[in-house]
Amino acid sequence: MDEETGPIVDQVVGSLLFLKYEDELDAIEGWLGLGEGRRLAYLASTVPADQAIVELGSWKGKSAAYLAAGSKFGHRASVFAVDHWVGHPELQYLFPDPSMTTLPEFLRNMEWHGHLDIVTPISGKTADVGKTWTRPIGLLFIDAAHEYEGVKEDFRVWSPFVGVGGWVAFHDSGAPGPRQVIHEEILGRAAWGELSAHSPFAARRME
Ligand SMILES: C[S@@+](CC[C@H](N)C(=O)[O-])C[C@H]1O[C@@H](n2cnc3c(N)ncnc32)[C@H](O)[C@@H]1O
Repeated sequence: MDEETGPIVDQVVGSLLFLKYEDELDAIEGWLGLGEGRRLAYLASTVPADQAIVELGSWKGKSAAYLAAGSKFGHRASVFAVDHWVGHPELQYLFPDPSMTTLPEFLRNMEWHGHLDIVTPISGKTADVGKTWTRPIGLLFIDAAHEYEGVKEDFRVWSPFVGVGGWVAFHDSGAPGPRQVIHEEILGRAAWGELSAHSPFAARRME
């Protein structure tokens, strides 16, 4: 599937993009709900072309596909998908073979949806990749490690690249790790506003 098959957005309603071919996006294996995908796509559509969309934790590409579709409707900001593609402790039950990696499926899904033109996979531990990162970020989507220390480290390393007007979003904001980080780093902080309680939880940098 690619852009030749037609416009990728059906409608924009409030802060949601209703995408064409949502059934195909929703069929990619993952944990993201359709409403969450629409919201991510909307956030991605607001990112200026000279800023990056960064996803921490990509698995088989479900959220990356929504981010790419949203970006194409907006300003075509590049999407960077950071993952070591070997799962994490909570996902080990999905890795019967320790040499297994989800990168090939991620690439297949990006290709099928025609998004390899805008999506760049980056292999590595999210915090390590962040330590060498230099570009401004307009949307940071955090969905890699889910335990407190990992989420905190991802936020601490990556959020300084989110400029004023940019967004940070967390998947699973009700889980203990992300929830505690949101409480400690975002709620009640002047630097973050326009909070959205809908999943994925999102906040905009105000200063
Ligand atoms: C919940 S899945 C991401 C799902 C994806 N965002 C989606 O909606 O389709 C979490 C992913 O984060 C990756 N991951 C977990 N901890 C990581 C770390 N410290 N560095 C890199 N990748 C990590 C795992 O390999 C897994 O692919």
